[in-house]
Amino acid sequence: MATVVEGVDYGPLACLIGTWKGDSGMDVAPELDGEEHNPYHEQILFEACGDVTNADLQMLAILRYHQIVTRKSNDEVFHNETGYLTWDVGAKVVTQSFVIPRGVAVVAGGTGEITDNGALIEVSASLDDDSYAITQAPFMRDNASTQSFAHRIDVNGDTMTYKETTVVDIFGKIFDHTDENTLQRV
Ligand code: HEM
Repeated sequence: MATVVEGVDYGPLACLIGTWKGDSGMDVAPELDGEEHNPYHEQILFEACGDVTNADLQMLAILRYHQIVTRKSNDEVFHNETGYLTWDVGAKVVTQSFVIPRGVAVVAGGTGEITDNGALIEVSASLDDDSYAITQAPFMRDNASTQSFAHRIDVNGDTMTYKETTVVDIFGKIFDHTDENTLQRV
């Protein structure tokens, strides 16, 4: 599979470029007295944004993405996330950096492996990790603190499956807030 687009090598990220839609999403979110399960549909747009060098040493190929998630029960957008995926062609490292409107910012890092018909991408971050950490607004830090984030994306041709686990310290318990979906390129 070609990984070079307009002269930039996006490595395992190349197969993500485009618009994806999926309607079999499932969100498990914390509630005061337990948890809620929210079926959803969504659209994710990944755009090739060229490359950038850092400190004259590191070269990153950049995808910008926008994920819009809509609750099936009422057709309202209930998660709206924007960020970047980058591929460090020298170090063979993928990063995912993003913010969500609640006031949580994540810089996650990990691996990207090109497979027969796509790629397998896995990144993670934790609150106090020295390398890939999480920053949050004071209200979130004190009331709904994100402890860790892990994201796995599996692309096979025009099908993408992902699962992400956001561990949240909320309502006096540690909660595995999970989201997963299968999408098709449109
Ligand atoms: C498809 C992706 C996601 C969906 C659909 C989603 C949806 C939700 C929902 C429905 C709640 C419960 C809100 C409430 O009842 O008040 C929630 C809570 C939360 N989410 Fe997400 N979420 C997603 C991804 C993320 C990510 C990536 C993060 C952070 C890295 C995150 C952080 C949080 C936090 C900290 C809370 C607790 C806030 C609260 O419930 O008061 N979520 N999310």
